[in-house]
Amino acid sequence: MELIQRPRRLRTSPLMREIVAETDISARHLITPHFVVEGEGHVDEIASMPGVTHVSVDKLVEEIAADVELGLKSHLLFGIPNDDAKDHTGSAAVDDNGVVARALRALRERFGSEIILITDVCLCAYTSHGHCGFLEDGVVVNDSSVEQLAKMALTHAKAGADIVSPSDMMDGRVGAIRDLLDENGYVNTAILAYSAKFASAYYGPFRDACDSAPQGDRKTYQMDFRNGREALLEAILDMQEGADMVMVKPALAYLDIVRNVRAEALCPVVCYNVSGEFSMVKASAAAGYCDEQAIVMENLLAMRRAGADLIITYHGRDALKGGWIK
Ligand code: PBG
Ligand code: ZN
Repeated sequence: MELIQRPRRLRTSPLMREIVAETDISARHLITPHFVVEGEGHVDEIASMPGVTHVSVDKLVEEIAADVELGLKSHLLFGIPNDDAKDHTGSAAVDDNGVVARALRALRERFGSEIILITDVCLCAYTSHGHCGFLEDGVVVNDSSVEQLAKMALTHAKAGADIVSPSDMMDGRVGAIRDLLDENGYVNTAILAYSAKFASAYYGPFRDACDSAPQGDRKTYQMDFRNGREALLEAILDMQEGADMVMVKPALAYLDIVRNVRAEALCPVVCYNVSGEFSMVKASAAAGYCDEQAIVMENLLAMRRAGADLIITYHGRDALKGGWIK
C-alpha cells in the first residue's frame, strides 16, 4: 500500500499537534458577565450557576480585582434592581444613579483603562412585566422601546462604559443608540449588538438569576431557532446601523450561525456561551458524568473554530484558575 497522504503524520506527538493547531484561545478572548445587585456586602452564589454570584457594587470591585489578577480584563455588567424599583417602562434603567451607573463609576475609578467595561442594554430586568421593551395592550411595541433603550445606553456611556450591548432585539435600536451617543459627544463608545439572539430555553438559569422571566414569552422579538438566513439579515442590518461588533446567542447549538455571520462580517464576531450551556456542564461534571476541563475546552475551542473572536462565558474563572487557558 503506497499512501501518499497520511494526515496522521501531523498527529504523532503533542508538540507536532501543537504547532499545526488551527485554533487557539487565551484570556484576551474571554468576556466575564456579572450580575450587579443593590445594597452592600452581597456576594450570593446563584444556585443554578455554581461560582456565579449576585454581587453588590462594593464587592463587585473586589470580584473584578481577582478576575484581573487571573488575566480576565473584559467584563459585562447586568443590573438587577430591587423589585420595588421595577415599573411599566423600566425607568430605573435610565437613572444616572442606577445600579449599573454606580458600578461603572466605581470600577472606572478603581481600574482606569486597565479593564474593558461592557454593559447589557435591555429593559427586561427593570420592567414590572419582564419584557425587553414597552408593553402596550399585550404587545411589545418597537419604536417607543427603542427610544428608552437609547437613553439607557447613554446613561451607561456617561457613567463610563467602553461598550454598550443592546440585547433586546427591537428593530432599529443600534442606529438609534448610535445617534443618541453621537449627539451627546460619546462618539467613541462602541456598540456590541446582540444581533442574532434566539428565543431559547438555554436562558433558563439566567432568568432565575435576574428574576427576569417575562409574562408570556419573547417570541415576538427574539429569533425563531428554525431560522439561519434571518440571523444573517439581523447581523447585516446591525452593521449597517453602526454596530462595531455583532453577537450570536446562544453559542453551542448555534455554531452554524456563528460560522455564517463570520463569513459575512468584517467586524469582530462575539458569541455568548449562555447560562444553560454553562449549568449543564457544571451539573454533569458535579455528577461525575463528564470531565469538566475537557468539556469546557472542547466547547470553547469549537466556538473559536466556528469563527468567534470573543466569547462571553461563565467558565473563564475556572479555566484560568485551573491553568486550562493562559
Ligand atoms: C435579557 C438577557 C438574557 C440573557 C442576557 N440578557 C436572557 C433573556 O432573553 O431572557 C441571557 C444570558 C444567559 O442566559 O446567560 N435581555
Ligand atoms: Zn431583555
